[in-house]
Amino acid sequence: MKYTDLEGLSLSGVNERIRACVDCPLAVGRTMAVPGEGPESAALMFIGEGPGADEDQSGQPFVGKAGELLGKILQAAGFERSQVFITNTVKCRPPNNRDPSKEELDCCWPYLLRQIELVKPRLIGSLGRIAGGYLLSSDKFSITKEHGRIFSFSNDTLLMPLYHPSYLLRSDSREKGSPKHQMWDDMKKLRKLYDELTAGAKFTGESSQ
Ligand code: URA
Repeated sequence: MKYTDLEGLSLSGVNERIRACVDCPLAVGRTMAVPGEGPESAALMFIGEGPGADEDQSGQPFVGKAGELLGKILQAAGFERSQVFITNTVKCRPPNNRDPSKEELDCCWPYLLRQIELVKPRLIGSLGRIAGGYLLSSDKFSITKEHGRIFSFSNDTLLMPLYHPSYLLRSDSREKGSPKHQMWDDMKKLRKLYDELTAGAKFTGESSQ
């Protein structure tokens, strides 16, 4: 899929193309493609890695265990899930939940780019190493070092890398310095930034792409 083939399409038009896409090998093993969901007017977008088994069956993003935790994290930060747009870097489940390859990420990128352009979020929370590194075009991206930092994604949109909920599920501790504790600190920062951005306050990213 070329980006130019998606120009002029509405969000539902893009989603239809995603559901019918057979452009990369991930299409072969999928049950359903998972375009993403949320309001087109969402000021906040979360971008995960790719559908897991539950998402592959339902066609909806983050509906399994990781999704349950994401819902709780959103709620704790005062967001309704229905208020935010949630999608992934690849729209079809990689077999056995392996990392998507660079070719698969690149193949799916026009869909994500068009979704971002249509929704025009003020802020993106990327979830995990794969989404953060890909969206920031960084081979050296380290989620442990860069989570909670504020980057400029485009002129209109800031990006904060966050830990992936699946990673948090593997770590029980809530002590200071633990991934769950750090996630909570990041979410408080993200909430404050979101409030500033949606109140019309200007904020310049700490560093740019
Ligand atoms: N993990 C992801 O990265 N995305 C989903 O939609 C579900 C689990």
